[in-house]
Amino acid sequence: MARRASSFVCQNCGAVSQRWQGRCESCGEWNTIVEEGPSAGIAAQAARGARGGRVFGLEALAGGSPPAPRIASGLDEFDRVMGGGLVPGSVTLIGGEPGIGKSTLLIQACAALARRGSRSVYVSGEEAVAQVRLRADRLGLAEAAVELAAETSVDDIVATLRQGRRPDLVIIDSIQTMWTDAAETAPGTVTQVRASAQALIRYAKTSGASVILVGHVTKDGQIAGPRVVEHMVDAVVSFEGDSNHHFRILRAVKNRFGPTDEIGVFEMTGAGLAEVPNPSALFLAGRDASAAGTAVFAGMEGMRPVLVEFQALVAPTSLGMPRRAVVGWDTNRLAMVIAVLEAHAGLRLGQHDVYLNVAGGLRVSEPAADLAVAAALVSSLTGAHLPADAVYFGEIGLSGAIRPVVHAPARLREAAKLGFAKAVAPMMARSGAAPPLPVEGVGDIASLVAGIAAAAPPSRRSTGRATFPSPH
Ligand code: TYD
Ligand code: MG
Repeated sequence: MARRASSFVCQNCGAVSQRWQGRCESCGEWNTIVEEGPSAGIAAQAARGARGGRVFGLEALAGGSPPAPRIASGLDEFDRVMGGGLVPGSVTLIGGEPGIGKSTLLIQACAALARRGSRSVYVSGEEAVAQVRLRADRLGLAEAAVELAAETSVDDIVATLRQGRRPDLVIIDSIQTMWTDAAETAPGTVTQVRASAQALIRYAKTSGASVILVGHVTKDGQIAGPRVVEHMVDAVVSFEGDSNHHFRILRAVKNRFGPTDEIGVFEMTGAGLAEVPNPSALFLAGRDASAAGTAVFAGMEGMRPVLVEFQALVAPTSLGMPRRAVVGWDTNRLAMVIAVLEAHAGLRLGQHDVYLNVAGGLRVSEPAADLAVAAALVSSLTGAHLPADAVYFGEIGLSGAIRPVVHAPARLREAAKLGFAKAVAPMMARSGAAPPLPVEGVGDIASLVAGIAAAAPPSRRSTGRATFPSPH
């Protein structure tokens, strides 16, 4: 019988190659290729299949299963992202850059749960118990009944957790520091991380404890190394923020038990992470409504409306090539808005530097911000102040038309709640109920520009005439 060759399998993406390589050709990861013997191959499985498997009963989809019970931690922003609370037996991966506040958030969640009488265990593979205690002290959580350990052996951790009362919440900080005897590679490798995650997932499923794994994120935003862990867990949430600003956003990326478009907003304070129930107020704090070149955008982060201020500065350039600098928005999108302003509203920005900034450090990715950007640009160019009590939203098409965007009612409600008096937005089809806020519909970019230019100071209007046409 011919000898069956063993194959080489990438432990990160599962690609199979015929020889060992330092780098997987499929996913580009280094040192992830491991030799797997013929017994692990499909042939062995096929042989098993030939013997016939165990017969099991199929169930109807329509069967009534009770909804997953959830344990709310009491940290509302955290519970919201988790879909209303922790699901017993579920495993969640929380990713984020180092220093963003993952450990802080999770020790706070542990303490909040412990206060409600649940058993919560925090296992740190990165810090000594004394360090974790010191942080809890700073956060004013020292008296909370959280059980701590500084351990990295998954086998020991699982054996310990199986003793005594079942914990409701187990934090593993971080999965990259864990190792198990089940894998033969060195700690820290992809194989180790995957095997450790597998052991912890098995523990969660068999015991009913809810397990949260912390995962470090690489510079390009991926949860380092084992993407496979993302597939194995029930939910993946990412903790994001700009280290120069205080707010942090917890965002559900995948959730088998709840929606993925929820976000939770926190603010990093001297006493840990504080919940921000009203993020718009945070982003609009300190706004100078009297300055030209600023427009408030009624945006959405997931299912949550968030108002943010766009600031534009348009100034004559002293360079051969005018500068376009953007913070918090997409540079290509800005180029497109400028091109449409030039082509369809007669503005000439070829001799102007353009700077665009989203106040507060938020990153906006919605095309719905086009209209706010255009308004801020025109306002800065003409010196015309935009009304301080107006919000803007709408997508701009290449033809200059203002296109409708999703969630308009939610955007309008949020703006009304924060005391805004009107919205400049795409023309809306009349629905039965009156909108929560008067809407000034704009059909195309030229009418937006004409409206703003009409309010420009006369001196700028006359010089502006060379830059853009007067409204006809
Ligand atoms: P940490 O939770 O250790 O981050 P991670 O686990 O994601 O690496 O948070 C570290 C940062 O948070 C650190 O730079 C200091 C800051 N911080 C505060 O500003 N206030 C606080 O009360 C705490 C505990 C941390
Ligand atoms: Mg940490």
